Amino acid sequence: MKIAVIGTGYVGLVSGVCFAECGHDVICVDNDKVKIGNLKNGVIPIYEPGLDELVIRNAEKGNLIFETDIQSAVQISDVIFIAVGTPPKPSGEADLSYIEEVSRQVAKSMNSYKVVVEKSTVPVRTGEWVKRTIRFNNKSDVDFDVASNPEFLREGSAISDFLKPDRIVIGVDHQKAADLLRKCYQPIIDQSVSFDLKTNSVIHQEPQEEQVPFIVTTVSSSELIKHASNSFLAMKISYINCVANFCELAGADVEQVAIGMGLDSRVGTKFLNAGIGYGGSCFPKDVSAFLEISKELGYDFKLLSDVIEVNKQQREIFIRKIKNALWIIKDKTIGILGLSFKPNTDDMREAPAIDIINAMLEEGARVKVYDPVAMEIGKSIFGDSIEYCDGPYAVADNSDALILVTEWDEFRKLDMEKVYKMLNYPIFLDGRNCFNPEKMREIGFEYHSIGRK
Ligand code: UDX
Repeated sequence: MKIAVIGTGYVGLVSGVCFAECGHDVICVDNDKVKIGNLKNGVIPIYEPGLDELVIRNAEKGNLIFETDIQSAVQISDVIFIAVGTPPKPSGEADLSYIEEVSRQVAKSMNSYKVVVEKSTVPVRTGEWVKRTIRFNNKSDVDFDVASNPEFLREGSAISDFLKPDRIVIGVDHQKAADLLRKCYQPIIDQSVSFDLKTNSVIHQEPQEEQVPFIVTTVSSSELIKHASNSFLAMKISYINCVANFCELAGADVEQVAIGMGLDSRVGTKFLNAGIGYGGSCFPKDVSAFLEISKELGYDFKLLSDVIEVNKQQREIFIRKIKNALWIIKDKTIGILGLSFKPNTDDMREAPAIDIINAMLEEGARVKVYDPVAMEIGKSIFGDSIEYCDGPYAVADNSDALILVTEWDEFRKLDMEKVYKMLNYPIFLDGRNCFNPEKMREIGFEYHSIGRK
């Protein structure tokens, strides 16, 4: 298959590379000349485990090409995935202007039947607009289909999520488009291209009997599946965070409660980790967009406003905990472990670290930070206002409190006796429940976590 992927952000780049690994001929297009120049030289704009190796391998094989020209990419390809950004507007509504612009350019370039696929997360009914835009700009009057194919990959495990998904969802109007999309995904459906979680590597094998579910539905339902899934997961996190707050008042332990709840297969064990709330590029944006589109359609989806509010409060509660533990923040040195919104990524969009550090700076604290991969991005946000350390022990050294914001493995493996000796005051605030409270207190820490005694 010949595939064009327009937009080389997280979703676009990972999709393009994985389709190439499946044996298709892929052209990744972006209007950012510097980014495309870098990608041609094997310089990857994001940190994602395993991605650089796949880019280089497929580019060398010749089935992965990077370019800035949409027209030639569209003309060569059978299927065109649109994976450009849909950033939130101040209202929370998604800004779809990039999608519109790309749809226009695709329409003007089409020379034969194409399937144009929305890969970016878009509000329900965007497909209708894309169709209309292409129709109006389709000068050579060629046949086309618009399809929806939401992506469920997580940062940090994006390649494995793409190649070993729980399900593939597509929304189409015609069988012809469904058949072409099935062809794109066939190696993933039959797992002849898969991902081995044990060795963390892509595997090529004989087609497997157990197939990945391939769900074909309407364009609107497919669009909605993405927003409804992400909002449900965000709700699960806000729910367990509320339970955690309750546990603190009732003297119960949220970790134990979550285990007990999760073993009911209807609830499930995943996404029940209490902490300082969700961040990243998807959940905050998708829940707000879902809420806004509901309002537009005349439905007040109250539950979603609460999910957002609880998530915001969870950070405020944690900041209050820091203040309660330290009494006076002014002129204290606060050590921060972790900047990215979650481990295995350098992404700091909507990261709790930003709110926490800003709150400490506003109170007049000195802030020292370390993150295994997000230091450069941290520097672009905080500049000279904080101190960047070369490791977690340097953060602990002479700090008046240590705050764990991101649950990187490197932090779980710290020698806590050593950390204890390095701190000015043995105050440890764990925003991700990474340590055992009893053990921490045995060492001598004043240890605070989420929803545990
Ligand atoms: C998410 C969805 O999981 C993915 O399907 C979608 O395509 C994009 O959005 P991502 O944002 O990369 O992926 O990260 P994810 O691992 O889902 O975590 C999201 C946030 O929730 C993080 O801030 C994480 O710290 C938080 N989280 C997750 C919790 O606080 N508790 C949990 O139990 C799980």
